[in-house]
Amino acid sequence: MTKKFTVTSFKKFKENKEKITMITAYDYTTAQLMDEAGIDTILVGDSLGMVMLGYDNTLQVTMEDMLHHTKAVVRGAKNALVVGDMPFMSYHVSIEDTLRNAGRFIKEAGAHAVKLEGGRDVLDKIQALVKAQIPVVGHLGLTPQSVNMFGGFKVQGKSLEQAKAIIEDAKLLEEAGVCAIVLECVPQALAQLISESITVPTIGIGAGADCDGQVLVIQDVLGMYKGLSPKFVKQYRDVGTMMVEGIADYIKEVKEGVFPGQEHTFKMKDEVLDKLY
Ligand code: KIV
Repeated sequence: MTKKFTVTSFKKFKENKEKITMITAYDYTTAQLMDEAGIDTILVGDSLGMVMLGYDNTLQVTMEDMLHHTKAVVRGAKNALVVGDMPFMSYHVSIEDTLRNAGRFIKEAGAHAVKLEGGRDVLDKIQALVKAQIPVVGHLGLTPQSVNMFGGFKVQGKSLEQAKAIIEDAKLLEEAGVCAIVLECVPQALAQLISESITVPTIGIGAGADCDGQVLVIQDVLGMYKGLSPKFVKQYRDVGTMMVEGIADYIKEVKEGVFPGQEHTFKMKDEVLDKLY
């Protein structure tokens, strides 16, 4: 039986050099399946804006979108720790706003932690959340909510200046008390250096094998998303093709009158039927 993963498991896993597995999910059924597979943590990512809602980026995602999907995931995940991703502008205006919005993830949706993007710029918000007993997962490197500032989805931390800033940010987040840090799209050597210099586990996505854990978007892992497919994605199954083929079979059988068969059909007594004619 899989053991429940809690916020304190993050550090224990790092100390024991056991890799942490994280995947995104946005609904009850998928969360149940991921839980059954034995995933440690589920991120209800604001990537849902792209893979579930069809936007070009994550910027239009609202608190209501996030809460709706987080509630469904929490109902499905019995062992995995559920992290709710704070959407763009839900933690940028004020500490009060940040606390109120993060509190909704925990109180209304039942998430175990929240994730927010950024380092020094959001440090005061992270400190306030930790003080309010809300576990926080940080996110550095390519932070997709800054796509307009970055001028696109680009690898971060290649220059000395950028790399130094990311290292400093990681240390600031550690001091602020985050329970883990997602490192997205940074060079492997930089991710390794950061992972070795902080006690908080790093969860990599496009950050190489030296992170303390890995996260991927479920639609990418299962071949279900036809949009952007970054270099760091590994597709483990082609569920997208299986879905198309399965539904094509269904369409064919309905058109040909093969489905539903007798085994899918309810019966009634002849004497009742006779009285209807
Ligand atoms: O929104 C998301 O799914 C994420 C992961 C890619 C880390 O932030």
